Amino acid sequence: MKIVLASRNQKKIGELRTLLAETLPDVEVLSLDDVGIFGEIEENGATFEENALIKARAAASSGYIGVGDDSGLTVDALGGEPGVYSARFAFLKTGMNDHDDQANNRTVLDLLQDVPTERRGAAFVSAIACVFPDGRSFTVRGEVKGRILTEHHGNGGFGYDPLFYYEPYGKTLAEVTSSEKNAVSHRGKAIRAFAERLKAEI
Ligand code: IMP
Repeated sequence: MKIVLASRNQKKIGELRTLLAETLPDVEVLSLDDVGIFGEIEENGATFEENALIKARAAASSGYIGVGDDSGLTVDALGGEPGVYSARFAFLKTGMNDHDDQANNRTVLDLLQDVPTERRGAAFVSAIACVFPDGRSFTVRGEVKGRILTEHHGNGGFGYDPLFYYEPYGKTLAEVTSSEKNAVSHRGKAIRAFAERLKAEI
């Protein structure tokens, strides 16, 4: 069976292939390019789930099972922001360069400047949506809770990882190995939930 992931990012496609292979060895994961979908997909949903569904529907227009994902950081003291704007938060708040991790991190730190440790709770969230050729769909969500530090720690990971302190490890997610991160991360949890649900649906 073939599924199409609404992405051109080979790292994401490889990650899904590896994790699905454990649960569903007969599933082949294709990219948008593999099925000849070349246009940009506009992510204008208000929630992670909506954006994931928009992408999954676009992928399902190939005729195969479509899968889409969306993820980001939610900070309690910022009313859930950056949320669906995680990748372009600095641009949204300050007009600074889009898609720049450092500018995004600086923006979060600036907004939290006067917020004390006990109110710096945050979570990474990952939603994965699946749309079948007959129109049926489902979404799953994975979350990991942590706290936003006042400065960067570690060089690993990407995005907001150097600010995201994960209490059980006593470190940020930029200070752990990728397998340590996958074991507890929003994306790891969402992909495992997705694999189980897909297995039950097919
Ligand atoms: P996307 O869903 O992969 O496009 O991620 C959206 C944005 O959320 C990224 O550009 C990052 O800023 C942030 N983000 C998502 N997952 C992570 C993570 O695991 N670590 C750090 N930042 C993340």
